[in-house]
Amino acid sequence: MNKIDVCLSPALLQYANPCKNSSVVVVDILRATSSMVAGIGSGIKHIKPVEDAVICSNFKQKGYVTAGERNGEKIKDFDIGNSPYEFMDKSLHNKKVAMTTTNGTKAINSVYDCEEIIIGAFLNIKAVVKYILFHSKDILVLCAGWKNRFNIEDTLFAGALVDQLHNKYEIASDAALSACELYRSQKEDLQTIMSKASHSKRLSRLSQKKDLEFCFKFNQFNVVPKLDKTSGVIY
Ligand code: MLT
Repeated sequence: MNKIDVCLSPALLQYANPCKNSSVVVVDILRATSSMVAGIGSGIKHIKPVEDAVICSNFKQKGYVTAGERNGEKIKDFDIGNSPYEFMDKSLHNKKVAMTTTNGTKAINSVYDCEEIIIGAFLNIKAVVKYILFHSKDILVLCAGWKNRFNIEDTLFAGALVDQLHNKYEIASDAALSACELYRSQKEDLQTIMSKASHSKRLSRLSQKKDLEFCFKFNQFNVVPKLDKTSGVIY
């Protein structure tokens, strides 16, 4: 039986089982992976995840749209920030986007050595489950967290994935089990627990309340974006 494990923060990755032979689902519900899913699902050609903001801004000269935030706020002189609504804008159709975020793009780069890197969000969870069941490999869900700390929204997503796969996958750790139990206890009303979450408060202060609602919609896009390691971009 294949296994599903959860890494609750990139800082814990060093203790996770070696992920070389696993598929890793990276999640940053608020908002990086939600924006990636929304963007690819709305026709962006590809997304280049970049850790460093200066390197990211240089992609402008290569014909990229630059997207990014630090601490939730759009980076000065970048074309767009990190709202899924910006990523869904028609003007980005067929465009290449270089993206840098506080936690999400960093988390993606931290698992570059793994066999396969999948971008997950509530917005595409059904498509991710279908993909996982079809390809039948061990799964590690990596929560981007907040500056190496645990966060609720990524854990809820990890728990939802474990919940949907638990009949076919062995739950590999207490982290995976706890995420699943957290999700099950809150699934009828994710907004209530999320209203108390630290990043919700941060984004509310920054007037990004509509992003908070949108990122918790299930199955808006039937896409499974993946990192192509030869080109370093997400399709
Ligand atoms: C991140 O990568 O930390 C987030 O996506 C932050 C945000 O823009 O909400």
